[in-house]
Amino acid sequence: MAGTVKKIGILTAGGDCPGLNAAIRGVGKTAILKYGMKVYGFSSGYLGLINGEYRKLNEKSLSGILTLGGTILGTSREKPFKPQEYEEYIGSKPERILENYDRLGLDTLICIGGNGTMKTAGKLQGMGLNVIGVPKTIDNDVWGTDVTFGFDSAVNIATEAIDRMHTTANSHKRIMVVEVMGHHTGWLTLFSGVAGGGDVILVPEIEWKPEILKDYLLGRLDAGKPYSIVVVAEGIKIPKKGRKRKQESAGTAVATMIQELTGIETRETILGYIQRGGSPSPRDRMIATELGAYTAGMASNKEFGRMAAYKGYDLISVGLDEVAGKIKYVPREHPLIHHARSIDTCFGDGMPDIIRRKG
Ligand code: F6P
Repeated sequence: MAGTVKKIGILTAGGDCPGLNAAIRGVGKTAILKYGMKVYGFSSGYLGLINGEYRKLNEKSLSGILTLGGTILGTSREKPFKPQEYEEYIGSKPERILENYDRLGLDTLICIGGNGTMKTAGKLQGMGLNVIGVPKTIDNDVWGTDVTFGFDSAVNIATEAIDRMHTTANSHKRIMVVEVMGHHTGWLTLFSGVAGGGDVILVPEIEWKPEILKDYLLGRLDAGKPYSIVVVAEGIKIPKKGRKRKQESAGTAVATMIQELTGIETRETILGYIQRGGSPSPRDRMIATELGAYTAGMASNKEFGRMAAYKGYDLISVGLDEVAGKIKYVPREHPLIHHARSIDTCFGDGMPDIIRRKG
């Protein structure tokens, strides 16, 4: 592309998370104030880009949104490259995107989202658009970056919820199962589970056995621990016989299984969407602002086809083609797992290697 970058478009796609507005503000304000660009915000993720629904953003519309949850632009899980019915009548979505991009005279498109969004962003780059990705998700599972904004806020919310389980569990001498979001990865479950003092933590990356849970939880009772907290990711595998109904959540299935195996009264709580709602944590505001400002700089430098990312505390960029189709799983040897095991946390794959004293 010849000349300077003058017009950029921004969209937020996929599940929402705290920090999206901070990121929009970071990109937008830097683009306008530092680089003198014009900024347009598309509605509802890729849907707005397909339908040509956008509005101009200015300093005023970007003010006062730093602490707001959700996204002022709206979002959707629209996948423009998914084959669709009646395409011959309504036109292909990628073609409509290209038309809208050209009609508006955009020089760059900034796509803020998770794994699915980055995959689409890479495909749009392949079609000839100039695209830059910004990673977000409470799941922290975007490949190529050490951290995503949204994650820290969700860890805080889930941890507070787990904290609150301890007193009610102790009062009733029960086992409390808490289900945390995370379909493919266990970052949120691991971090909030450790921070909230979970006794058992089950993540999709580690295969677990009901019998081990039984021995471990009865062992705790035997050692004079009257209650236990079990933190499970929504995406863990449930043994075939363990799920009573097909639609049953992981938390419910695990709670039922534990009560049957141990005879200890067990209850479950599914945290659900409260983990994604509300104001971002200070750390997420900071990360989103910094990533946003960095991304505007990438646009100005014409670093297209890349995603802004963190490597430690450093901001870098990685190719969208490298990111596409990958998931950042929790390594089984993650230091937090290793150290949690040494304080008697059970991951369901074996008994913790500790000396247990009675009473
Ligand atoms: O944003 C990721 C995530 O929070 C997952 O952990 C969760 O399973 C999923 O979104 C559910 O979101 P939705 O119902 O919006 O598709």
